[in-house]
Amino acid sequence: MKLGFKTVAPVLLGLLVSGCSSPQDLLAPHGYIAGKEAWLFWIVLAMGAVVFLGVEGLILFIALRDRRRKGDLAEPKQVYGNRSLEILWTAIPIGLVLILFGLTLGVMAAVAPPSPSAGDLTVQVVGHQWWWEFDYPSLGIVTANELHIPVGESVRVQLVSADVIHSFWVPQLAGKTDVIPGQTNLMWLQSNQTGTFDGQCAEFCGLQHAHMRFQVVVQSAQDFQTWVAAQQASPPAPQTDLEQQGYQIVIKGVCSGCHTVNGTTARGTIGPNLTHVFSRQTIAGGSIPIGQMSEWIEDPQGMLPGNDMVIHLSNDEITAVLAYLDTLK
Ligand code: CUA
Repeated sequence: MKLGFKTVAPVLLGLLVSGCSSPQDLLAPHGYIAGKEAWLFWIVLAMGAVVFLGVEGLILFIALRDRRRKGDLAEPKQVYGNRSLEILWTAIPIGLVLILFGLTLGVMAAVAPPSPSAGDLTVQVVGHQWWWEFDYPSLGIVTANELHIPVGESVRVQLVSADVIHSFWVPQLAGKTDVIPGQTNLMWLQSNQTGTFDGQCAEFCGLQHAHMRFQVVVQSAQDFQTWVAAQQASPPAPQTDLEQQGYQIVIKGVCSGCHTVNGTTARGTIGPNLTHVFSRQTIAGGSIPIGQMSEWIEDPQGMLPGNDMVIHLSNDEITAVLAYLDTLK
């Protein structure tokens, strides 16, 4: 197929338009850090555009002005060096780079991690292959896939890894910070708006890297307190026979080797804490809706090849496990 303008133009236009209104659009910031970073981006782009247009404009202007004209066979005037010009075109780029350097230092200082003694809410984020664990040490909450924070507040984030290098990224709230085994990296998050913002692992970390997602749920102070209270509550004891059967499998059986349910003997730490699993919207590293829990338990390797969950349950057992898990809200 010949690639003419009529073929290429709609594709380019489509690509251009698809950049708008993306849930991970870092040029549509909703937090202090992302705002600063977007501001710096636009400044750099504007300066680059001015330089580009200036240089290209001069090239065009000179090429047109000094083009060979009809009947003009003489050699052009030869110019050897021009001190003022050379000083000028050395000084201007140095000046521009110094301005950029100063602006960048300013933004880096403005978004730098706060001191460890600051009194804000602290969340420890643990990168796992391939899901995110969120611990609130001061609140006694351990959850996964969904990071809840109160609107307006600065939240200190401690980043640690359980295995390989990951990178924690919520484009609309803050830039990336690497999550490195054996070390704690610090950053902070702040959102000036309630809502849900998509986050993503941004460092290749193995087979399911692309499915290592999460969501940041920004809530009003009151909604956040409600969430905290619900997460701190102990899960109810199983009531029906089916829930009892599920309880036996999850708490006494195979699931407890990897998962924790607060207030029970299930204390595994390889997989996500299940205490309030059905209060969350997603499972499996934020990549599968909670509504597909039954398919997930049936064939976790088929849904997310290579993940740590290897389990073989009969259909009756899956029904019982689902009945019990459904009480963990
Ligand atoms: Cu974790 Cu990529």
